[in-house]
Amino acid sequence: MAKLTRLVFQINGVPRPVVCDPEKDMLSTVLRRIGLTGVKVGCGTGVCGACSVLIDGKVVRSCTKKIGSIPEYSEILTIEGIGAPGRLHPLQQAWITYGGVQCGFCTPGFIVSAYGLLLENPAPTREEVREWFRKNHNVCRCTGYKPIVDAVMAAAKVMRGEATMDDITYDFEAEKDIYGSKHPRPSALAKATGLADYGDDIALKMPEGTAHLAVVIGEAYHANILEIDVSEAEKMPGVIKVMTAKDVKGTNNIDFPAVVPRQRGSGLTEFPVICGEKICRNGDVVALIAADTREHARAAAKKVKQKLEILPAYMTLPEAVMPNSIQLHKNVPNFYMEQPCFKGEDASELIDNAEVVVEGSFHSQHEPHLPIEPDVVQGYWGADGMLTLQCKAQAITEARESVAQACGLKMDEIRIIMNTVGGSFGYSVTANTYALV
Ligand code: FES
Ligand code: FES
Repeated sequence: MAKLTRLVFQINGVPRPVVCDPEKDMLSTVLRRIGLTGVKVGCGTGVCGACSVLIDGKVVRSCTKKIGSIPEYSEILTIEGIGAPGRLHPLQQAWITYGGVQCGFCTPGFIVSAYGLLLENPAPTREEVREWFRKNHNVCRCTGYKPIVDAVMAAAKVMRGEATMDDITYDFEAEKDIYGSKHPRPSALAKATGLADYGDDIALKMPEGTAHLAVVIGEAYHANILEIDVSEAEKMPGVIKVMTAKDVKGTNNIDFPAVVPRQRGSGLTEFPVICGEKICRNGDVVALIAADTREHARAAAKKVKQKLEILPAYMTLPEAVMPNSIQLHKNVPNFYMEQPCFKGEDASELIDNAEVVVEGSFHSQHEPHLPIEPDVVQGYWGADGMLTLQCKAQAITEARESVAQACGLKMDEIRIIMNTVGGSFGYSVTANTYALV
């Protein structure tokens, strides 16, 4: 049983008592619990800066700051305390006008961090702005940082009295044509004020009694599954249901026939919703737990036992396409596609006469999508009988088809709603997570 304490902090200008476990609760958890969901949690490990807040004027990553380590009555400032629609702070206005908001998941943390910078240094150079964000671990995956630095420089001018809010506010009336204009994105206001709800914010606001899911990830990169023993997990507190591949009623495959004519084999790779026969990659799911709380679901997931026949793990493409490599997916060779090679003029003379010639085999690195926002999905039966999934799906029609065929449902009984998305960069085109829900 957790031992709880009542602590009082000056949060966004007012004293607020919070009931918490001082040894376990992180500041971000407590702030989000009292409704300040402008504090975003991306990595949860102190590396992305999405959760930045100010404590007594200093930038702190709240996801790794234990609440019990903060002196009572400290002044805590979150994005909600900086400004709101109708009374924007210059930083928020500049972020909107200069394109600092794209997916917007990093935005509250960046604005809070920039606020801390301008408290210390009201006239920073562009290099100092960049150095500040580097030092405070503020990461953005969308903007390329230039619009963010532009926004800080513009807001700083207003705060020094060298420009007005009008100067940094987009003039909608002067806009002749939206094409070629710098029309701010419609969602920018909500994102710059911390009011945009992403998947994890919606999860906090679901009705009481909503079940939580936890996945059991395969304990190998490549293996044949001999047995998944869920008997202990089923007895864990709060567990509603433990699911394995046999519980998936459809094809249990979220893939579609390839649309690339050069693909070899059947053109259909097996990407099971829950793996029943084989684990082919790091992150493959072998079981799914539904429980009354997130903690109960995760505790039960740890009790699932996996009996596997471990196969060689191929960490690079060259390893996977060696003649003696084991085929990963049924009916699709590991060397699954060959691009035609177009050669230009004969370069042998140039190479023969070159001062230095380097010979070798070169391949590019794995390119992860890596959005900062975690992937959180809500699922419920709508009042009209439709299975409704709220998620990050980027191709909604394809997603419905994919979930329908994999899970044995009718496509016209599935509704997919795209939540506000904190970046995806292509990975949520496939139905991996929302098919699980
Ligand atoms: S640093 Fe806290 S969520 Fe990433
Ligand atoms: S706008 Fe910064 S991560 Fe998307």
